[in-house]
Amino acid sequence: MVDVDEFVEEKIAEVGSAIGDENAVIALSGGVDSSTAAALSYEAVGDQLTPVYVDTGLMRKGETDTVRETFAYMDSLRIVDARDRFLDALEGVTDPEQKRHAIGEQFIREFETVAREVDATHLVQGTIYPDRIESEGTIKSHHNVGGLPERIDFDGIVEPMRDLYKDEVREVARELDLAMAERMPFPGPGLAVRVLGEVTAEKLAVVREATHVVEEELESYDPWQAFAAVLGKATGVKGDNRVHGWVVAVRSVESRDGMTARAQELDWETLQRIQSRITGENENVARVVYDVTHKPPATIEYE
Ligand code: XMP
Repeated sequence: MVDVDEFVEEKIAEVGSAIGDENAVIALSGGVDSSTAAALSYEAVGDQLTPVYVDTGLMRKGETDTVRETFAYMDSLRIVDARDRFLDALEGVTDPEQKRHAIGEQFIREFETVAREVDATHLVQGTIYPDRIESEGTIKSHHNVGGLPERIDFDGIVEPMRDLYKDEVREVARELDLAMAERMPFPGPGLAVRVLGEVTAEKLAVVREATHVVEEELESYDPWQAFAAVLGKATGVKGDNRVHGWVVAVRSVESRDGMTARAQELDWETLQRIQSRITGENENVARVVYDVTHKPPATIEYE
């Protein structure tokens, strides 16, 4: 990317001419990529663009409110409360790829409803360069909106950031004054890939709170991603009783593009503070462990 002002101007013009007088939709997740693509495209076509935020219940703590506040200036913003429908779709599903598939399907259904309502002919996507590389391989069914263009017959797909790396997207986000500019990446399937096995409301509540603690406590380490995951159950002691509680893993990694990553070296006091907050705030957590594995051989997420 040559110059960020120029890039923004050029892309606004490009999006404007691609959409013309028609209507477009974008799936807004609250992450830096989709937020940047939405803000940039909204500059170009205003309310001809409908940003759709689906509250899957798999989002980080406070996410829906952040999105509502940040994009309050967009009259066309749609917030869809689909939390119960996602939990239903995930009931009994334990295989990681099937989980992604169930989430993707439900997401498309929710998104499709709005796209049809607003007569959208164009789809704007926040795809960035590393997404295209990973999707070309068989690493995973990467994007929860990956199946959209096949399902809905759009006249055009607009991807203003398709050639950018993450750090370049952040520059654009800063240029557009987006609060999300410095946020860590968050996977499309959300907290579902941070809960091993079946996704339940209880596990989601544990992972959501624990992730919030980890993000807060590790902010000064400036990680690429830092989060918690729920691994399973193990024995612990609460008061005088032995209990069977959740095992929460803490992960914090450095990376440039997510393709490889290094586990961060954290000091003991920080780790202990995280442990004590997570076990203190949730009495069903019996154990907190720190993941020291790089990528490869591990992936960043747990599923
Ligand atoms: P992994 O876990 O494969 O993750 O090392 C690499 C980067 O991609 C994010 N990630 C996803 N993003 N849909 C997404 O949009 C997904 O299914 C998905 N899985 C992983 C992950 O958070 C990391 O930044």
